[in-house]
Amino acid sequence: QNQYLGLTPPMGWNSWNTFTWNINEQLIRETADALVETGLKEAGYEYVVVDDCWSLKQRDADGRLQADPEKFPNGMKAVGDYLHSKGLKFGMYSCDGTHTCAGYPGSFEHEFQDAETFASWGVDYLKYDNCYKPRHADGEMLYKRMSLALRNCGRDILFSACNWGADNVHQWIQASGAQLFRSTGDIQDNWESIRSLALSQIEKAPFSGPFCHNDIDMLVVGIHGGSNNEYIGSLGGCTDEEYRTHFSLWAILNSPLMIGCDVRSMSGATLETLANRDVIAINQDIECRGPYRIPQWNNPENVFTLVKPLSDGSLGIGMFNFGDRRSEMSLQFWDMGLSAAAGMGLSFYDCWAHQEEGVFTERYAAQIEPHGCRMFRAKVVKAR
Ligand code: GLA
Repeated sequence: QNQYLGLTPPMGWNSWNTFTWNINEQLIRETADALVETGLKEAGYEYVVVDDCWSLKQRDADGRLQADPEKFPNGMKAVGDYLHSKGLKFGMYSCDGTHTCAGYPGSFEHEFQDAETFASWGVDYLKYDNCYKPRHADGEMLYKRMSLALRNCGRDILFSACNWGADNVHQWIQASGAQLFRSTGDIQDNWESIRSLALSQIEKAPFSGPFCHNDIDMLVVGIHGGSNNEYIGSLGGCTDEEYRTHFSLWAILNSPLMIGCDVRSMSGATLETLANRDVIAINQDIECRGPYRIPQWNNPENVFTLVKPLSDGSLGIGMFNFGDRRSEMSLQFWDMGLSAAAGMGLSFYDCWAHQEEGVFTERYAAQIEPHGCRMFRAKVVKAR
C-alpha cells in the first residue's frame, strides 16, 4: 500500500481532449514513448489515462467489461504492462451511471466487479464520470461506493471523481476517499473557457488539500485548435502566451496537470511550457495549500495576484491579467502580511524567465500583457 497515493496533484496525460473516440494501443504506446523521450516523464508526468470509448458496448457473459479488440487487440492488461515497463502508470475511465458519456457500459451496480477487473489489468488511476446516472440514484452514494471498491480491490488505484460539480461535490468528496474531484463542465481550447474555469474555482481553494485536489479539467496547452472533438476545439485554440497563463493558473490552483495535446508532435514552445519545473514545483508543493487572491485596486475584476504559501516558507506568486489590454499590477507586500517597518522584503525568482529578479521592499510592480501572467517564487528576506 502506497500511503502517499495522491498526496500532491497527479500529473500525466489523458486521451480525451485531442483524440476522443479515436484511441488505440498504438497511440498509447507512442504517447508513452514520447513522454519518456521528451523528458516530460522526468518532469513528473507519470499517469497515462485512457479516457472514454475504450470498451465494447456490451459486457461479457460474466458481466465483465471488455476492451474493444479493434482498438486494443492485446487487451488492456498489455497496455498496462507496456506503460509499467516504461516506468509510467496506467489510468482508465468509467462512469457512475448505466453508460459512460459516450454510451459505453458504465459501472452502475457493477462497482466492485469493475474495480476488481481494473486491478487485474494493472490499473493505477480511475477517472469516474457522471453520465447516465439513474434519476433517483444518489450521486454522493455512488462515488462513495466506487471509492470503497477501489480502496479494497487489492491495488493502489487513484480515484479521480469527475462529476462536474454536481451535488456540491466539493463539500463531501474529501470524506468519500477520492483523491480528485472535478467541479466544472468540460474545458474548451479557447481563452474564454480557461478564464471562466479559473475564475469559478478560486473560491474553492479552501476545499482542496493534500490527498484531495480540485481538478479544473485536463490541460488544453498545445492543442492549438487541433482536437478531434468539436466541442473542445471548435473555436480555434489559444496563443502560446495564453497557454502559459493557463498552465500557471492550473499549477497555482493545485489542479492536477494532465496533458491533453498530442505529445508525439508538440511544438518546442508547448514542451517548454509543460516541462517548466519552476512552475511544476509550485503545483507539487507538499503542503498543497490553496492560494488567496489579491485584486489590483483599479482593475479588480481582470487583474489580480494569487499567492500560495509554500512549505519552505517562500510564496508562490502568480500575477494575472485577464483583460484585453496591457495592464499594470502593483503588488503591495502588506497585502501578504509583510512588514516593511520591520525591514523585511521579498527576493523574487521569475519562474518563466528562470532567473533571479532581486530583492524588493513594500511592493513589486509589473506590466502584464493581455491574457498574460508573471509567475514568481518569492523568499522572505531581511532587506536592511
Ligand atoms: C465527460 C467528461 C470528459 C470526458 C467525456 C468522455 O464529458 O467531463 O472529460 O471524459 O465525458 O465521454
